[in-house]
Amino acid sequence: MEAVCAEEVWKSYGKTVALQGSSLTVEQGEILALLGANGSGKTTLTKTLVTLLVKDSGRIHILGYDIDSNPTQVRQLVGYVGQDTERSAYARLTVVENLMFFGRLRNMRPAEIRSRIEKLSYHFEFNEHLNKQFMHLSGGQKQTVVIMRALLHDPTVLFLDEPTKGLDPVISCRIRNYLKAYIKQEGKSLLLTSHMMNEVEEMADRVALIRKGKVLFTERPNTMKAALGPQDMIEIRSEGLPEATIQKILNLPSVVKQLHRKPEWTCFGVSDFFEGTSEILRVLKEDGLRLPIRHREITLEDAFIHHVGGLDESLER
Ligand SMILES: Nc1ncnc2c1ncn2[C@@H]1O[C@H](COP(=O)(O)OP(=O)(O)OP(=O)(O)O)[C@@H](O)[C@H]1O
Ligand SMILES: [Mg+2]
Repeated sequence: MEAVCAEEVWKSYGKTVALQGSSLTVEQGEILALLGANGSGKTTLTKTLVTLLVKDSGRIHILGYDIDSNPTQVRQLVGYVGQDTERSAYARLTVVENLMFFGRLRNMRPAEIRSRIEKLSYHFEFNEHLNKQFMHLSGGQKQTVVIMRALLHDPTVLFLDEPTKGLDPVISCRIRNYLKAYIKQEGKSLLLTSHMMNEVEEMADRVALIRKGKVLFTERPNTMKAALGPQDMIEIRSEGLPEATIQKILNLPSVVKQLHRKPEWTCFGVSDFFEGTSEILRVLKEDGLRLPIRHREITLEDAFIHHVGGLDESLER
């Protein structure tokens, strides 16, 4: 049985169609990253899956429970971190008071809540902040509280909407490691949205790509990168690189394609690193250009930009 199974989910906000027939599955023990441009429907789909939004049509099952007929069971099984950190806890309550409150809402016993708080704050090195009012925490500290809140009742299926935004590299690494262990060692499941491709590469077993409210495909990160063709990139500093030279480079036998052009670097995919580099250097020399050039392997970010880059995801009609 899948942890999450969504079939043909539609959702509109007035005239804005946010989801148009989105389908995806998350297996038990799996981390699935939901990727897509701003406004593509990730938050809407996530909120619909955790029963915070009511879909217009489609079918959703969480661990076999239909969310329409068993919303209470579903809410007990899921943990959720939303994008709105500020409104996810009470400003004037301390961290402990907040967590006690949300734990009690879930019918947890006070002793049980205290022991979970102790465990989580140990893992996230958060002990010194437990008695501070939520409003007096920094942005990253607030986000950590929201993650602790989502993990409090030991949920079976986690839904985290950009969980590590605003966190410094040390704490976000600590939280990623904790989450990976939590999912893998305890057989839980995680649906994650993130715009940080290194985070997705590190964590996700599979990636679902959503565009304009529809999940286009679900693939392993490596398969998604392999589908781009070339696995090596040669980048040339964009400033001072004329269009005519770009065209010459694109006609070279080892250059497969121009993957994208960033403001600073123009990227070419090559079928063979050594051949491609020497051919490109020859063209630059011919054209009298002494521009910086560098090599790197293809990343998930390249694949993401290839699929959704620069497109306006708005579905306003
Ligand atoms: N409460 C709302 N009322 C009206 N329209 C909304 C509302 N929430 C989202 N939308 C619209 O629905 C679409 C999908 O939004 P959603 O928040 O799901 O995108 P997202 O993929 O989570 O984007 P981001 O990466 O910026 O978080 C967008 O066109 C957005 O403008
Ligand atoms: Mg969002």
